[in-house]
Amino acid sequence: MALQNDEQCTDLLHSQAHIWNHIFSFVNSMSLKCAIQLQIPDIINRHGAPMLLSELMDALSINKERGHSVYRLMRILVHSGFFVKQTISTTGDDDEEEREGYMLAPASRLLLKEEPLSVRPFLLAMLDPILLDPWQHMSKWFQNDDVNSFHTAHGIMFWDFAGQDPNLNQFFNEAMGSDARLVTSVVLKHCRNVFKSFNSIVDVGGGTGTVAKAIAEAFPDLSCICFDLPHVVNGLVGSKNLSFLGGDMFEAIPKADAVLLKWILHDWSDEECIKILMQCKEAISSKENGGKLIIIDMVLKDGEGDKELLETQLFYDMLMMTLVTGRERSEKDWAKLFLDAGFSDYKITPILGLRSLIEVYP
Ligand SMILES: C[S@@+](CC[C@H](N)C(=O)[O-])C[C@H]1O[C@@H](n2cnc3c(N)ncnc32)[C@H](O)[C@@H]1O
Repeated sequence: MALQNDEQCTDLLHSQAHIWNHIFSFVNSMSLKCAIQLQIPDIINRHGAPMLLSELMDALSINKERGHSVYRLMRILVHSGFFVKQTISTTGDDDEEEREGYMLAPASRLLLKEEPLSVRPFLLAMLDPILLDPWQHMSKWFQNDDVNSFHTAHGIMFWDFAGQDPNLNQFFNEAMGSDARLVTSVVLKHCRNVFKSFNSIVDVGGGTGTVAKAIAEAFPDLSCICFDLPHVVNGLVGSKNLSFLGGDMFEAIPKADAVLLKWILHDWSDEECIKILMQCKEAISSKENGGKLIIIDMVLKDGEGDKELLETQLFYDMLMMTLVTGRERSEKDWAKLFLDAGFSDYKITPILGLRSLIEVYP
């Protein structure tokens, strides 16, 4: 590439910087994972005031020779918006000294162990080597016949692996549970009416029942079933209006007035989704009797709006391609799926940030 003028030189260096930024994007996630594993947000939170580097060092269970490395880890996490630095004035014998202490930024509150809506289990699951390995196999997958890169990396499909490996099953279910707590808290605050018009609901692919439990508690007269693969729900105990049932949603779904599908359809291809949706249609009541499907999933924004939000949706789409057989969908894609599965109408309520609540009518 011959450089003719200053402008070309500037462009060249910008391009190099852009590529470097992308090469090292993983440093953001890995640094955050390290901070979570060392419990830095919890330690700073417990301290209750801006925490000096020396205080943080004392509190961390690490090799005490790593002081400057902790400073460098904190520097990038301040840069990426997880911590803030605050000046502390201390009055000593001779003079006043100003030093800087670390505080949590709003996003790190969601990374605390004790925070009920913590995203911590989700972060640790998504950045576990079992889920990261497939990314190393993506180009190989493009050239072979495997269903996805997860299969290329591990020689088995994701859901089968989860059924055989208690560690994956546990950390994945915990990750889903943590997301379910956060989403349910918003849904039950802003969309209570969605659940008012029927007497029974089945949460299909409901994991270990976090959403179903919250709905059952919020609506004591509503009968709830949490339906998932046997290895997920075996041994779980329900309550007066909540029961657990193991099965395969491709074969049959228990009958109820309404079906909830939270974060299910994006795991599956269009053909598989149509099969699931048709099973749902079989399971629910007619439109006149209040039957409906409640879906919680992404609606791809297609270039408009918040850049970080769109980028995260695109990350997710790639994740679905890598781990399973699914994808993220635009409103047009969703509308086609609903029509192809025999549903008559739908309503999208974009109240969940990256995701939306979609009501679908038979
Ligand atoms: C992405 S997780 C979502 C879990 C839960 N709905 C939530 O959002 O917290 C997908 C769920 O689908 C379940 N699943 C996968 N294949 C299934 C099948 N054939 N029948 C029933 N559930 C299935 C998985 O076990 C898992 O719990």
